[in-house]
Order: sequence, then C-alpha cells, then structure tokens
Amino acid sequence: MKRIGVLTSGGDAPGMNAAIRAVTRTAIYRDMEVIGFCRGYDGLLEGDVVPLSVSSVGGIIHRGGTILRTARCPRFMKPEGVREGLRRLKDYDIDALVVIGGDGSFRGALELSELGFPVVGIPGTIDNDMAGTDCTIGFDTACNTALQCIEKLRDTASSHERLFLVEVMGRHAGFLALEAAVAAGAEYVLLPEVPLDLDVLCKKLHYARERGKTHSLIIVAEGVMPASDLASKLKDTAGFDARIIVLGHIQRGGSPSSFDAVLASRLGGAAVDALKRSEFGVMVGRIAGNIVTSPLQVSWEQKKNLDSDMMSLIDILGI
Ligand code: ADP
Ligand code: F6P
Repeated sequence: MKRIGVLTSGGDAPGMNAAIRAVTRTAIYRDMEVIGFCRGYDGLLEGDVVPLSVSSVGGIIHRGGTILRTARCPRFMKPEGVREGLRRLKDYDIDALVVIGGDGSFRGALELSELGFPVVGIPGTIDNDMAGTDCTIGFDTACNTALQCIEKLRDTASSHERLFLVEVMGRHAGFLALEAAVAAGAEYVLLPEVPLDLDVLCKKLHYARERGKTHSLIIVAEGVMPASDLASKLKDTAGFDARIIVLGHIQRGGSPSSFDAVLASRLGGAAVDALKRSEFGVMVGRIAGNIVTSPLQVSWEQKKNLDSDMMSLIDILGI
C-alpha cells in the first residue's frame, strides 16, 4: 500500500483535525503518501484534493472544525455516485481510504468497501450515536461546551428565580443531553429515546416549587421537540413561564478537549495500522480503554443504549 486518501464527512466534530494529523503522520511514518479529499464525498467526486505532509498537518491538533472541510453529498447516496467515487480513487492511484465521520459517512464507506475498495472508518460526531466505540470523537468536547453554557445560565436562572429550557443537539440520540444534564446538575432532561409525559413533568415542576425551589433547568434534546414548543406547552397547560436557549452549532465548535485530542490521535493511528494489516471494511473505536476494530455496519446496526443509571441519577440528584 503506497498511497492513501482521507476525508471528513457529515457534521464536523472537535478532534477531526487531530485525527487527520494522526492518519497523515502515521501513514508517512509507515512509508505511505497521503491525499486529502476536501468537503467529504463532494471533493472525492469533484477531484478536490490536497496532498498532506508532515508539515501541512502541523499546528492543527488543537483546532476545531476540519481543515479538509466537510459536506453532505446527496450524489454519493446513489450507486452511480459511489461508482464515480471509485473511479476517482483509481484516477488518483489511491490504494485505500480513511473516512472520518458519523454513521451516514460510514454507510457511504461501506458502499465503497462492498465494491472491493479498502476502507477504514474513524467515528467522529458530537452525537456519540455510534456503536463500536464508547465515545465518538467530539462528544466529550461538545459536552464540555454545553456544560460551560449551562453553568452561565444557572447563574442568571438562580438570580431571577427562573425556569430555563436549554435545547442541545441530538436529533435521534440523547447522549449529549444526558451527559450535559448530569454534569450541570440539571433538574430534568428530556431525551428522544424516552416519550415525553407533559403531566409528569408539570407535576415535578409544581412539586419542586412547593418545596421552595426557585429556579430549574430543563435540558431538552432537539429531537424531542423545539424548546420554544415545549415552553408554549408548559405555559398553556400549567402556566409556567420559561426562558429558552438553543445552544445549536456552538456545540460543534472549539478546540478538542484533552480526551478528544488523545482519542482522535489514537484512532487515527489505529486506522492506518488496520490498513497496513489489510483489515478493511472496518471502523476503529475505543471500548473499555482498548482500541478495537469492528465491521463498519456495527456502528448503526448495533444499538448503543443510553446508560440507565445516568437517567436515574437525574431523578435522584435533581430533586
Ligand atoms: P454523518 O456522517 O455525520 O452521520 P450524514 O448522515 O449526513 O452525516 O452522512 C454524510 C454523507 O455520507 C452523506 O451526505 C452522503 O454523502 C454519505 N452517505 C450517507 N448515507 C449514505 C448511504 N446510505 N450510501 C452512500 N452514502 C451515504
Ligand atoms: O450529527 C451532528 C449534528 O450536530 C446533530 O446533533 C444535529 O442534529 C445535526 O448535526 C445538525 O446538522 P446541520 O449542521 O445540518 O444543521
């Protein structure tokens, strides 16, 4: 194997640059050349490439975003798009491809793999909604970003004796919401995985008021409903006057935490090692502290469940 490609795809995540750096430097250390495809599968189809060297990936380990930029590429969702991608990889004499992204990006990677092209995936998304790894790159940083914001909100919520609804990212998965809620000592968390019972929530809020609680924080994963809709429902059904804040894309930015920079460095190195030993069609991950490989499809076929103890903690500690 002489020359590999690397791309970042889907939603960006802090630590993707650290992963690009680790892939590039490990590959060069092992006598391979590295080509970066810009803007995910878009750049692959359009031939938007950049050669990567030891120095061109210098000074990026601590930078948020992705120097290769990222995109969602509808063309690649069709068999013809994948076949065109394969042709492009051959045009550029690429022997193998490293895909850094979420489970959508891994589905694209699997399509290439099933056409016989060597591919390895590195899980990067703030959602942490991928099996085959305990944590995806970017999740820890996003939790810390959300935590910092929620701590500030708690100050003003407490001063003004207010109810705040904090909408965090997570359309289908509540990992970020749950982690941030426990870390911030939030009173309630609403998760896409758990059906919302508005009556129960209102009863809890009333009970908290009766006990003399003057402010509350509710963390709402975006997949449950927009925080603005929940605020209206709380007003209409129980007269609660809630302030809302949507943390939004701020959770995707910023320098990676130490945890994410280390995770990305380890997984980047492990991805190249997997290619070197001809282990293809797999993702790398970290499970119970160990770096492991699993088939790409594990990331979406296996269910990664929320920790039920963490969910109970909110009820116990948020009284
Ligand atoms: P993420 O990787 O963050 O989950 P997306 O789900 O948006 O992000 O997927 C990123 C890109 O991966 C898509 O825009 C598309 O180019 C590619 N992709 C997603 N699903 C498939 C699929 N089933 N087949 C081929 N490519 C796919
Ligand atoms: O997958 C990461 C993520 O940030 C989700 O949490 C969120 O729902 C989605 O991407 C937002 O996507 P976009 O950047 O297209 O608004």
